[in-house]
Amino acid sequence: MKFFLDTANVEEIKKALEMGLVDGVTTNPTLLAKEKRDPNLTIKEILSLVRGPVNLEVLAIDAKGMIAEAKQLATLGEQVVVKIPMTEEGMKAVRALHEEGIRTNVTLIFQAVQALIAAKAGADYVSPFVGRLDDISTVGMEVVSDIATIYSNYGFETEIIVASVRNPLHVLEAATMGADIATIPYAVIKQLMKHPLTDIGLERFLKDYESLKK
Ligand code: E4P
Repeated sequence: MKFFLDTANVEEIKKALEMGLVDGVTTNPTLLAKEKRDPNLTIKEILSLVRGPVNLEVLAIDAKGMIAEAKQLATLGEQVVVKIPMTEEGMKAVRALHEEGIRTNVTLIFQAVQALIAAKAGADYVSPFVGRLDDISTVGMEVVSDIATIYSNYGFETEIIVASVRNPLHVLEAATMGADIATIPYAVIKQLMKHPLTDIGLERFLKDYESLKK
């Protein structure tokens, strides 16, 4: 399973890169705004660090505007994937960009049939938002499972990015389901490495070895 880092924070990306945990990056307007600096500088820096897909979202909401923005974003680096919202206008843009060879990730997916539409329009990736569904008492991972079934039924090559990941359980379920990618906040990456028995075990090993010196 590929790990994308769900962040626009360059320091987090550098730390995860050191552990070989960055197969790609996803950003969105909220994450870029959180950095409180010129987003163009942030994007430039991310592109200089990450070789895998770097997902950058359009701000336009009409197809013509999205296509123009996507074309501009695609000039920034060959690893750029353009995030397009799951709307009618968005699907027109996805189809046009697909024909021009610009890769797209359809974002804000909350039900499996939206992912079917996105794949038919020509999306390279879809991003079901599992955490936001969980927030409204709907099991987000069930949507991922349905998308995986639909894609396998018809042989779609669109990759599933499990997005809006909030905890290690989302990552575990994504992995056991065989999702292609999980885009994970750095805080959750840290949680994935933690277990109290690991800490206790390490402390005991060091203490036992220290006892030799007494
Ligand atoms: C990534 O592509 C999404 O924009 C992101 O995972 C959304 O996460 P959130 O629901 O925590 O804002």
